[in-house]
Amino acid sequence: MKRTWWKEAVIYQIYPRSFMDSNGDGIGDLKGITSRLDYLKQLGIDVIWLSPVYQSPNDDNGYDISDYQAIMKEFGTMEDFDEMLEEAHKRGIRIVMDLVVNHTSDEHRWFVESRKSKDNPYRDYYIWRDGKEDGSAPNNWGSCFGGSAWQYDDATDMYYLHLFTKKQADLNWDNPKVRQEVFDMMTWWCEKGIDGFRMDVISMISKTPEMPDGEVHDLYGDYNPYCVNGPNVHKYLQEMNEKVLSKYDIMTVGETPGVTTELAKQYAGEDTHELNMVFQFEHVEGNGKYGKWTDERVPLTNLKKILSRWQNELYGKAWNSLFWDNHDQPRAVSRFGDDRPQYREASAKMLATCLHMMQGSPYIYQGEELGMTNYPFQSPADFRDVESINAYKEWVEDGVVSHEVFWPCLLTKSRDNARTPVQWDDTENAGFTTGTPWIAVNPNYKEINAKAEMEDSDSVFHYYRKLIALRKENPIMVYGKYELLLEESEELYVYTRTLEEEKLLVVCSFTDKETEFTIPEEFAGCECMISNTGNAYEGGTVTLKPYEAFVLHKK
Ligand code: GLC
Ligand code: CA
Repeated sequence: MKRTWWKEAVIYQIYPRSFMDSNGDGIGDLKGITSRLDYLKQLGIDVIWLSPVYQSPNDDNGYDISDYQAIMKEFGTMEDFDEMLEEAHKRGIRIVMDLVVNHTSDEHRWFVESRKSKDNPYRDYYIWRDGKEDGSAPNNWGSCFGGSAWQYDDATDMYYLHLFTKKQADLNWDNPKVRQEVFDMMTWWCEKGIDGFRMDVISMISKTPEMPDGEVHDLYGDYNPYCVNGPNVHKYLQEMNEKVLSKYDIMTVGETPGVTTELAKQYAGEDTHELNMVFQFEHVEGNGKYGKWTDERVPLTNLKKILSRWQNELYGKAWNSLFWDNHDQPRAVSRFGDDRPQYREASAKMLATCLHMMQGSPYIYQGEELGMTNYPFQSPADFRDVESINAYKEWVEDGVVSHEVFWPCLLTKSRDNARTPVQWDDTENAGFTTGTPWIAVNPNYKEINAKAEMEDSDSVFHYYRKLIALRKENPIMVYGKYELLLEESEELYVYTRTLEEEKLLVVCSFTDKETEFTIPEEFAGCECMISNTGNAYEGGTVTLKPYEAFVLHKK
């Protein structure tokens, strides 16, 4: 297996709107990020993945871009960007940009032109189709964020495709001009000195040209078999690699919904010349009662089965991202751990141990390193996220299910859980802004905040810091081979990593009860690399505390 810097890196995701506000308008910004680089340096991360900072009307918080080469006014200027990049580099931190090129905003100048007439030079930049005989949409596909995936446009009496909101029009990647525009834009950013791209829903850029109706699952037909891992996706990524990526020493990660382990070996194979790694969702998907919406937990045995399959099948062949949460997911500690006050810290540290000891590049989503929790939403008016707002409308207001049934699902899964401001200290608005924050601050900021955690050597923050430092000293954490033990346990997640003569034993308790665990003979007397309790692990049977985690190192 090739050793590379991006396999060894720990990545920290910043969702700029909620990270740090420098000018009191209630919205996080680039200067805010620059002001917190020392904090990130102290944490020890290597790479920042910056969610979109480009000009955008913010229908989907920057994932609807109207100019790829301009900075969103609310976030600052291109000078602010250059300064942030320079300051990050001074600290040895790389910056990976979000590349959102499955679609653009309907306010992007290409789309403004495209919709004008059927013979406009930009017409074929997007996917236009006639309606059916009766004037209805070309097929039954549903958008990811509710409603049909087709929007009728008066100007030319045709429909355009949008797999997300109607303000996110899908680009036509089959048009070579579109690909060249995207490649030129990417080159422009690379020349500026950025360190890579996180590619938004990149597995969806190639569509089956016939566009048949999809099987109806929830309210609409499924587009997945026809838009996810489509016929030309690998060809286009290889072209991108040849024309842009291969010319720079950058990191590339593809957000790849719907990818299988087999396909990941193509997207992110050691020698396939597409991307460095995939970012896939099988372990956070779980089948919801209503689309993605559910309040049920995935049983630990299922979670282990999924994660282990990815660990085993990609080993030596392709590279994966490791994550529990991001800006589209609820908070890790609330979802997979236990956010009740007596268990929050232990379970946050346990989850970190479980993830960082696996093979892949670990991602930390802002605030995860503090053990930030889901938000206690009180009413539908508390939501800012277009997906949550649309879902409430489509499922409850349109009468499919009752508020009582749907509400817990929304509370559990809403993306806004992850989007509340980072809790910096115990002053007003958690130190995020001196103004009114665009989305409410979690009321638990007085107890959970960066300042308090930095001062407490036993905090979740310092535990993450230690895990990151361990990764730098122990290549086995990056390159060791994974093996799952105790497959059937619903309480314990136990696995080993092996690199030549060296071996790690990783033990994580996913329960609020005490459990017994017998340390395998070969680890008796081995050094404890990290633990979230003060326990001793000489050998024999130990009684584990709720959410206990430890790692033994056999050299
Ligand atoms: C990705 C992003 C998500 C966004 C969607 C559409 O899944 O992570 O935030 O809404 O793509 O761009
Ligand atoms: Ca601001």
